[in-house]
Formats: sequence, C-alpha cells, structure tokens
Amino acid sequence: MNVLVIGNGGREHAILLALRKSKRVEKLYCMKGNAGTARIAENVDVDYMNVAAVTEYAAAHPEIDYYVVTPDDPLAIGLVDALESMGKRCFGPRRNAAVIESSKAFAKQLMKKYKIPTAEYEIFDDYDKALAYVKSHGAPIVLKADGLALGKGVLVCQTTEQAEEGLKEIMLDKAFGAAGNKIVIEECLKGLKYNPGEEVSVLAFTDGKTIVPMITSCDHKRAYDGDKGLNTGGMGTFSPCPFWNKKLEKQVLKKIMIPTMKAMNAEGRTFKGCLYFGLMRTDKGMKVVEYNSRFGDPETQVVLPMLKTDLMDIFEAVTEERLADINIEWEDGACVCVVLASGGYPVSYKKGMPITIGDVGEDVTLIHAGTAIKDGQLVTNGGRVLDVVAKGADINEARAKAYEAVGKISWENMSFRNDIGLKYREG
Ligand code: AMP
Ligand code: GLY
Repeated sequence: MNVLVIGNGGREHAILLALRKSKRVEKLYCMKGNAGTARIAENVDVDYMNVAAVTEYAAAHPEIDYYVVTPDDPLAIGLVDALESMGKRCFGPRRNAAVIESSKAFAKQLMKKYKIPTAEYEIFDDYDKALAYVKSHGAPIVLKADGLALGKGVLVCQTTEQAEEGLKEIMLDKAFGAAGNKIVIEECLKGLKYNPGEEVSVLAFTDGKTIVPMITSCDHKRAYDGDKGLNTGGMGTFSPCPFWNKKLEKQVLKKIMIPTMKAMNAEGRTFKGCLYFGLMRTDKGMKVVEYNSRFGDPETQVVLPMLKTDLMDIFEAVTEERLADINIEWEDGACVCVVLASGGYPVSYKKGMPITIGDVGEDVTLIHAGTAIKDGQLVTNGGRVLDVVAKGADINEARAKAYEAVGKISWENMSFRNDIGLKYREG
C-alpha cells in the first residue's frame, strides 16, 4: 500500500516511523512534512487546508491507497469527508464527529446529556451575561474559548480580576478570533494529591463499535521547568502515566470511553479514528478535561514507539469497522520525549538557525517537528523543532538516555525542559 499522512509536525513523523515498520506499506508520502519526514517519505507541497487542492492532488495520484488526516484543523473543515466522497480510504473522523474537539460547547453539552463526568459549566455568547456570571461565581474559575485556538484558548484563573481580564480578551478583544464568539466557563477541578489535578492523556482507536485505549502518557504543557511560564503545544511527554492502572482503565472505559463512543453514535456523529481523552484525576474521580479528535502531539511520539501491532492493520480495521478482531499489543517499559524548542517559544523566536547533531546512539530516535533544509544544512523552522525520544526499562532509564542525547544537539538559543518525566512520581 502507498499511504499519505497529512500534517507537518513531530506527531506526523512519529506516525510515518510506525507505518514504515508495517509489512504492508510500500511507499509513504507526507503533506507537507518537514526535513525529518523527507527522509522516510516523499513530501508533498500542497496546502492541506485547501480542500480543493488536496482532492485535485488525490485525483491525480490514484497510486495512493490510503490517507491519514492528523491535525485538528483539516479534520474540522471536512477533509476526510471530501476524500471519502471521491472514494478514497482514510483514517480520521468526518467533520460532524471532529466537532467533539472543534467546539468545546458541543463537547460539554454532549457530556452533560450523556452523564459523562466533567467539570460543571455554563456557556455564554453574550459578554455582559458572562461577566455577571464570573462576578457572582468568583475564582478559581476556568475560561475556554469555544473554537480551535492552537491549545491556547483555555485560561485557568486564580483571581476574579484575572477572569474578568481573560473574558474581555477572549470575547471583546477576540484574542483567539472567532473561536471566542462563544465561551465555556467551568468550575476549576481539584486534584487528589496535586493542584491543579493530575492529568493523563489516553488516546484510543475507535471504529464506532469498539474502542481500544492505547498506553497512557503525560504531557508537560508549560514552557519552563516546574510548570512555569506560558502554555505551549507541549514541551515533552512520557509513557506510561505513573498513577494509571488496570482498575482505573476499566473504570474509565465503562464511565467515560464507551459512553462517549455511544453518545456520538446516538447523535448521528459516529467517530472513527483516534479519539483523545484528556482526563484529570480529581477529588471526585476521573473527569474529562477535553476531547481531541486526533492523535496528541507530543503524546504520539511516546505512544507509537511502544506499539507492537502493525499500525496499518489497525488503521484499516478502523476504516472497515472490524477493530474488535484485532489484538493490539504494547511493549513493556517506558518511553520519554524531550522537546527541543527555539528560544522564546511560544511567544516569538527566530527560524533558520543551523542545527548541529552529534552521535545520539542507536537507542534514541530523533523526531522532527519544525525543521527544514536550507542550502543543504538542517535548520530550525518552527517553535518546537526536534523531539528526542528514548525507550527504557523504566522512566528513569528512558529519561537518562533522552537527556544524554539532548546534550549532543545544539543551535543558537535552543531551549528545553529539564524535568520531563518527573511528574506524579508518588503515583
Ligand atoms: P484544555 O485545552 O481544555 O486541555 O485545557 C488546557 C489545560 O487547562 C488543561 O490541560 C488543564 O491543565 C487546565 N484545565 C482545563 N480545564 C480545567 C478545569 N476545569 N479545572 C482545572 N484545570 C483545567
Ligand atoms: N498534547 C496535547 C494535544 O495534542 O492537544
């Protein structure tokens, strides 16, 4: 099979690396890709947010058998619908199911209607009413722009003043554009041992009939050590989550994952693809913080390297709605991903810095996120540049290998967190 993966980042490179191991995959393509994907796939220079351009490309390339649509924005505009309507086979939800991520208001209403545990909330499209609610409710309180906002549309406010300011930014100043026309205002969840509560990312394969959780992972969203600084797209991940266990998985499957799959079916929005559950362990049990309609980034970079089963077999089983027939197996041990970013990320940073890479050893995989080749030289081409991924018998071993490799890589003003994998040590 010839397979095309849509997207440009580390997550897409990780998916391509997993597909490359498949016995059945012959040639890989990536639209648009980066310098890393170019090593194992043919990069295709087409703007994937231009649906007509993608379908035109697909029509001209009948040799491509399968499309994997990964990022949230092409899913939200219906790229899978467009490709399927021309008879192409795809991995990824249709537009009416991708709404579980592209509208937070939809996701919250779905959870309320089907009694899926989540934070209490109210939805507003009127600024004055939202302000009155914030004033009467007080802090701590959480504000969420309804639409897609590059993972930055959520404000956890510790004071009422912060919340009033945030409300103005989102609803009046439109800091996240039209995503802020509607706002979800939520109760701030409390953790069992930590505050804010302990978070775990659980990605799951689903064909609408069966839902199979992958191994768990934990993200580090803030820019600096000790969870300081601004929220980013993710500065590193590790797998598995220290407080996860079989009992919790059983409970989450029963109370959250299966009810979500069934709820989407009942709404006529069957979800097929990878459904991402952002969960929090709270003083009142496991709750959903967010859904994503896709693989997480950088979660995928620590989850897929542990997959023993052929990923292409799983993708096809999802497309053909026979996921129940597949036995999905994972390696034991742990995996750590340290993100190397451009200094100044997530605010402002330079691109085009030459990257030097020494011998990182065989146990480490360098996944490319924002890289390019300029005059034959590997250079930085984004905020998050490289993902250093290492496996080990446990998190400590994987961490040690990853950070040793980090020491062999450099460019001007490279930045990274030193504490990836140290979260939730006490379980
Ligand atoms: P989201 O984009 O919805 O995942 O939110 C981003 C981050 O904000 C989450 O990873 C949590 O750390 C935090 N957060 C979101 N909702 C809540 C909530 N209701 N209570 C406490 N923290 C939250
Ligand atoms: N790592 C969080 C996300 O992919 O949204």
